[in-house]
Amino acid sequence: MKILAIESSCDETSAAVVVDAILPNERILSNVIVSQIETHQKYGGVVPEYAARNHIDCIDKIILQALNDAKLSLNDIDCIAATAGPGLIGGLLVGTVTAKTMAVMSGKPFFAVNHLEAHLLTPRLCFDVEFPYLLLLASGGNFIFAEIFGIGNYKILGETLDDAAGEAFDKVAKMLNFPYPGGPSIEKYAKMGDKNRFKYSVPMQKNSGCDVSFSGLKTATKMHIESIKNITAQDKYDVAASFQHIVSVFITRQLRKAYKMTTSNIQNIVFSGGVASNLYLRNMLNNTLNENNLNFYAPPINLCSDNAAMIGWAAIENIKNGAQNSSLSSKTNPRWPITDIAYDKIKDNC
Ligand code: KG4
Repeated sequence: MKILAIESSCDETSAAVVVDAILPNERILSNVIVSQIETHQKYGGVVPEYAARNHIDCIDKIILQALNDAKLSLNDIDCIAATAGPGLIGGLLVGTVTAKTMAVMSGKPFFAVNHLEAHLLTPRLCFDVEFPYLLLLASGGNFIFAEIFGIGNYKILGETLDDAAGEAFDKVAKMLNFPYPGGPSIEKYAKMGDKNRFKYSVPMQKNSGCDVSFSGLKTATKMHIESIKNITAQDKYDVAASFQHIVSVFITRQLRKAYKMTTSNIQNIVFSGGVASNLYLRNMLNNTLNENNLNFYAPPINLCSDNAAMIGWAAIENIKNGAQNSSLSSKTNPRWPITDIAYDKIKDNC
């Protein structure tokens, strides 16, 4: 099965060709990603209208490049998949309308993919991780702990009560005048800082669940910054290091609580989404989980942030699990939750 996949839900335009090869390293035939960082950098965040315009400008070229890189033509493709939600409606429409048009013109089926499901299945694309597993999904718009029983069978254990982790990184970076996107900037400058200089208390330790909130940490960071007269570059590095450290400690503690809430025999813990690029947090999670004899999986950095290869793989997993093709009149859904997927798509498995 060869899937041409399109991702355009936020500020990356991406097209990929993915196959259901047995070996993980043979599955991605191409994965072209064009980032819009330069467009949005001067605004300090994603401007949805500009994002949609950029997707329109380059999507056809990127699709052609993905087919060329894979040394295939549209005739060789079995199905065309695109992200149908959640995400920014303008970008989602660009991707799904393009995919549907290609499907009509070529007579191939169309498959609508949930972006969050694609993130949560990426570790299976890379490492064949077995179900069940505990998922930590942390991106710019989402933060979720979920127990993953099988395809389409996802139970949310905890979520953010305010910002997603990536959003918190972005906002603290903005306070420090670091370039957008904030997560990579914080990680870069934190390497030169002292993580113990600014003190924080770990949030939500008295709560029994595994929900998270980053608003207290953001406020504390703002107060740390305001307490410094004539802030220097070194001060900023120390703030970045202290913030990254406390966020990592907090997420690691909440992950332990999430693990205690699982009901199946979980041996595998999976970390995905843009924030999974953060090596400091990855290492802290990895060390903690290894000490407890649990397996930790996070995708390679280039598959943590948004990309079409994960969209193609989610389509493959669902189709192999008996999912029907999506109707050409299916709608995009900017708020499509992962708990709704099975009912929409799976033929006889719900
Ligand atoms: O998954 P993603 O590419 O896009 C969606 O939100 O869907 O995630 C982007 C988010 C941004 O908030 C960005 O700052 C954050 O992931 N991020 C990071 C790092 N790289 C990206 N956060 C912390 N450390 C990083 N190295």
